[in-house]
Amino acid sequence: MASLSFDQLVASSSNPDFSSTKCRLGSYPSYRGFHSHSLQARSSQRPLRRTFFINQQAAFCARADVAAVTLPNEIKSSLEIDWDNLGFGYHETDFIYVSKCGPDGEWNKGELEPFGPLKLSPSAGILNYGQGIFEGLKAYKTEDDRVLLFRPEENAMRMIVGADRLCMPTLPVNLFVQAVKQTVLANKRWIPPPGKGSLYIRPILMGSGAVLGLAPAPEYTFVIFVAPVGNYFKEGLAPIHLKVENTYHRAAPGGTGGVKTVGNYASVLKTQLNAKKHGFSDVLYLDAVENKYLEEVSSCNIFLVEGNKLATPQLKGTILPGITRKSVIELAKSRGYEVEERPVSVDELRSADEVFCTGTAVVISPVGSIVLEGDRLEYANKGVGKVSQELYAALTSIQMGKAADTMGWTKEI
Ligand code: COI
Repeated sequence: MASLSFDQLVASSSNPDFSSTKCRLGSYPSYRGFHSHSLQARSSQRPLRRTFFINQQAAFCARADVAAVTLPNEIKSSLEIDWDNLGFGYHETDFIYVSKCGPDGEWNKGELEPFGPLKLSPSAGILNYGQGIFEGLKAYKTEDDRVLLFRPEENAMRMIVGADRLCMPTLPVNLFVQAVKQTVLANKRWIPPPGKGSLYIRPILMGSGAVLGLAPAPEYTFVIFVAPVGNYFKEGLAPIHLKVENTYHRAAPGGTGGVKTVGNYASVLKTQLNAKKHGFSDVLYLDAVENKYLEEVSSCNIFLVEGNKLATPQLKGTILPGITRKSVIELAKSRGYEVEERPVSVDELRSADEVFCTGTAVVISPVGSIVLEGDRLEYANKGVGKVSQELYAALTSIQMGKAADTMGWTKEI
């Protein structure tokens, strides 16, 4: 069982500011009644056990900006996690980041809080009208114990576009990135060892204020939580199996398919579950107008490979502008591939040499077969194709700090 005190955690932080100043006890009166207690978290999906004692002093500190916090000796924690069998599942970690924005449009100074439930009005905009978007990005621990974020500014910018689409206040890029950094450092002990996975970071922006008639909420909350993750699909790096979906659509022109709204994901659950029941990993959506062009898989973008050419559906408002998608395009071009962003007809699946999916969660996931109109199309002998393998290795080497970051994508924190 690995055991790490919070002092060790703080001492091992690479952030020079992290342990330099102490939080002032007593400066957060709302925490005066907070007594020592223990929290037990058990995941049904994963072999994780955690006992976490937190006392009053810790609670005071946890409320403060992490850059001004030294966590006290009294906090004891023990952690047992099977790093070799991490999937993509929910785990409680230590801290979340919370910031609020009222009708004046000003974001307050965000704070780290102990991981726990959020309090929301039953009339909150997010609960009633789905006014919410989220992001996904990852932090990696390198062999020399550095922590790397992958292109966090890209997520910040995508969130600005999504916030605007859903009539929510935008969060400045530097605020977003600083908040991500603070949250990751405060949860540093949950970053998997090099090669075992990553810390998945989930920023959420939502209408938390109460509304009844349909209108933008009067208050917004920005939250970040993190969880250690391994492979997204149960297949791991083995090829996944897809089915082309002809009945349901993920997005329509003029809708919100191009931004990361929470509703985009609720609406694909039915088809996804149905496909899984029939042995598929997921479904591949077609455009809602002609039912003829590829769009994306429920949680990731798609690429087809034919010879030296890669093709992926162009961004036209119905497809999520994936940051891994963008990175793969740039990486493939830099390695001499021709990359086309254009309408990709479903029939092109019949002649492709390889197909793979990209996304923050899935990284690069090779596709072994796709069922289209009753035909089972197979790729790369149902193995991992050469191009998928090459791009996966190139991308993850940069993300994990194993190769020189010639693209300038990683950010050490
Ligand atoms: C991601 O890849 O980060 C996503 O947000 C997709 C989600 C369904 C896990």
